[in-house]
Amino acid sequence: MTTADRKPRVFSGIQPTSDSFHLGNYLGALRQWVAMQDTADALYCVVDQHAITVDHDPKVLHQRSRASAAQLLALGLDPERCTLFIQSQVPEHAMLAWILGTETGFGEASRMTQFKDKSAKQERTTVGLFTYPVLMAADILVYQTDQVPVGEDQRQHLELSRDLAGRFNGTYGDTFIVPEPYIVKETATIKDLAEPEKKMSKSSTSPRGCLYLLDEPNLMRKKIKSAVTDSGGEVRYDMDAKPGVSNLLNIYAALGETTVGKLEAEYAGKGYGDFKGDLADVVADALGPIAAKTREYLADKAELDRILTAGAEKARHLAARTIAKAYKRIGFYPPVAL
Ligand code: AMP
Ligand code: TRP
Repeated sequence: MTTADRKPRVFSGIQPTSDSFHLGNYLGALRQWVAMQDTADALYCVVDQHAITVDHDPKVLHQRSRASAAQLLALGLDPERCTLFIQSQVPEHAMLAWILGTETGFGEASRMTQFKDKSAKQERTTVGLFTYPVLMAADILVYQTDQVPVGEDQRQHLELSRDLAGRFNGTYGDTFIVPEPYIVKETATIKDLAEPEKKMSKSSTSPRGCLYLLDEPNLMRKKIKSAVTDSGGEVRYDMDAKPGVSNLLNIYAALGETTVGKLEAEYAGKGYGDFKGDLADVVADALGPIAAKTREYLADKAELDRILTAGAEKARHLAARTIAKAYKRIGFYPPVAL
């Protein structure tokens, strides 16, 4: 439904659940966020309301929301070219989530694999964790989003968002754009450096498995150099037989702006040592400056919060339009003005 006379609307979100984003977040999603600022009408959101679906400390959450926004700016999001904001500043997401929850089948929500994984890891599982994907659908649909840049692990959630949009439109009349996932194949799932059969994640069991964007460059180098590679010294792409090397090839191609094929040719006859040494430099050069830039944004909290509030105001104008439409469709009274 994207019309030729307007840029596609892009929306994506990230949870403020750690002090630093990691390489999987960056290559799977955030790099696309930065690139899409110029080709799309982009909104990006630090989803703090999603973050309270697991145990959290209010003070830490608040700091991490701000630190997340600072990292996104350090990575190249530009408030002049995109709308960056914090989810809890725009209440329309939660308003739409309530409506969408009444359109979601219990069995349908029960099939979400991330819910099953996360609830298995926690002692206490809440209704909020269960309905997490419904809030995510609301985030997306409230902005009439065309494309959602995410990593592969979000595909099932995106499918639910599409189903909910289609179902609501079918029952109550055209209201929402049905969003498309935007997933870059090569970097859709960056693997853990120590256990390449798992995806890279902050809950990695090995301290060397997850490379954080705010790691010291020397630590980044160490993590790359100690990454698990496979038997046989050949630098060749084969995700099944050589998942460790293949993962490093994907990382190298993405950060070094080259292709896996070219890298295979370049390292033919050379060993893993040369390859990892060069990749360690590529990673440290590409990501090393992010920490200092993040600190710069965090040094002026008032300015940072001003950027976020301005973003939330812009977002809220758009979201309120969809809420007005959805409320009418469903037979609600309109929200009163303050
Ligand atoms: P999260 O940290 O779960 O909030 O994820 C934020 C974004 O990063 C989402 O779009 C995820 O799909 C993406 N992402 C997380 N881990 C990875 C990974 N290992 N490889 C690729 N993308 C990832
Ligand atoms: N569930 C996403 C994740 O864990 C974060 C998220 C929340 C999101 N709302 C979203 C991503 C809307 C894209 C669009 O990564």
